[in-house]
Amino acid sequence: MFRLTDFNFYGKTVFLRADLNSPVRDGRIISDARFQAVLPTVRHLLDDGARLVIGTHQGKPYGSDYTTTEEHARILSELLGQEVEYIEDVFGRYAREKIRKLKPGEAMMLENLRFAAEEVKYRPVEECERTFFVRKLAPLIDYVVNDAFAAAHRSQPSLVGFARLKPMIMGFLMENEVEALTKAYGTGEKPRVYVLGGAKVDDSLRVAENVLRRGKADVILTGGLVGHVFTLAKGFHLGDANLEFMARKGLLELVDRAERILDGFYPMIRTPVDFAVDLDGERLEVDLLSDEKRLFDEHPILDIGSRTVEKYREVLMKAKIIVANGPMGVFERDEFALGTVGVFRAIGESEAFSVVGGGHSIASIYQYNITGISHVSTGGGAMLSFFAGEKLPVLEALRTSYETFSETGAEDRRG
Ligand code: 3PG
Repeated sequence: MFRLTDFNFYGKTVFLRADLNSPVRDGRIISDARFQAVLPTVRHLLDDGARLVIGTHQGKPYGSDYTTTEEHARILSELLGQEVEYIEDVFGRYAREKIRKLKPGEAMMLENLRFAAEEVKYRPVEECERTFFVRKLAPLIDYVVNDAFAAAHRSQPSLVGFARLKPMIMGFLMENEVEALTKAYGTGEKPRVYVLGGAKVDDSLRVAENVLRRGKADVILTGGLVGHVFTLAKGFHLGDANLEFMARKGLLELVDRAERILDGFYPMIRTPVDFAVDLDGERLEVDLLSDEKRLFDEHPILDIGSRTVEKYREVLMKAKIIVANGPMGVFERDEFALGTVGVFRAIGESEAFSVVGGGHSIASIYQYNITGISHVSTGGGAMLSFFAGEKLPVLEALRTSYETFSETGAEDRRG
């Protein structure tokens, strides 16, 4: 695949596809983690004299976090110490005129790429290539740099559409992500512990199936809603309130699948031994085997309990490789952050090579100053898709672009 350091960018117009999709509360971005992650690439391109056009998506149409990229441009400008002009247009005449006027070393941020209807669907490269987004912008662009690892599991025009038309180059973040994840997945060092939490249960089950069947994991620790599904699959009851919630989310349909995984790999999959419920706004820990578990009927489970954290910690301290995705509970509420913070902290303290991701949940790593994790991935769904053994469309597109241009499009390459 093409690497950033292989090219001279001076005076070249570069479209940088970043993933700055961030958690939003009350209309404001509450974590700059993905901005920090993409900074080295942005700095490199600007220092090299690129005319830089940055694009990102933010949220999904109609979602509460679906916003313009005005704040994204402001945050990036502040971190960079240089203006990144917000352009209230994706590929219309206004955007194209602004792109033409960019000078070497200047940067601008396009409007939320999902404001264009073409961006929301999963489409193969050939179709993405025919979108207006690609057709209108391609004549103005010399290179595409793709640093959107967190969206690498999507096949959308801005992510893959230029691959056969322009040299598409991996950004530094993309390179680091692929290297760290490949190391964790491919290693023979044991024990390899996977920690699967959060709400992406379907994706997590695909990871569990893949790494267990291919003999790439030795232990799986579960938490969050993934933990709920495996706990039910082991035959424990989690109370009416929690079952109703899971039914509404369509999670009960996944219990059978979890059971089939347990059929083959029961001893390798650990589930919580205690949980924390919300008792009128307070945290109360309940042992899964105690009589108090009747509280599950009326009170939502929002975290794993401290006994589970201790048990998981013992496993993590002996691990050689740790892959963790998703929180153990509703870490956004301080009283239910104990599980997530306890597990992530243990991962940081362990001597294992560790990769932790989970999209927005990595905010907790920064919020609680957790250190010692070998690689904090910006990927949520993309990371899960990688460990599920699936082909990521963006990585495929980077390969295609390399095959297409490694002979012909090399005039500005260094060396
Ligand atoms: C993410 O946060 O997982 C990525 O930004 C992808 O977002 P999406 O799930 O809305 O495509």
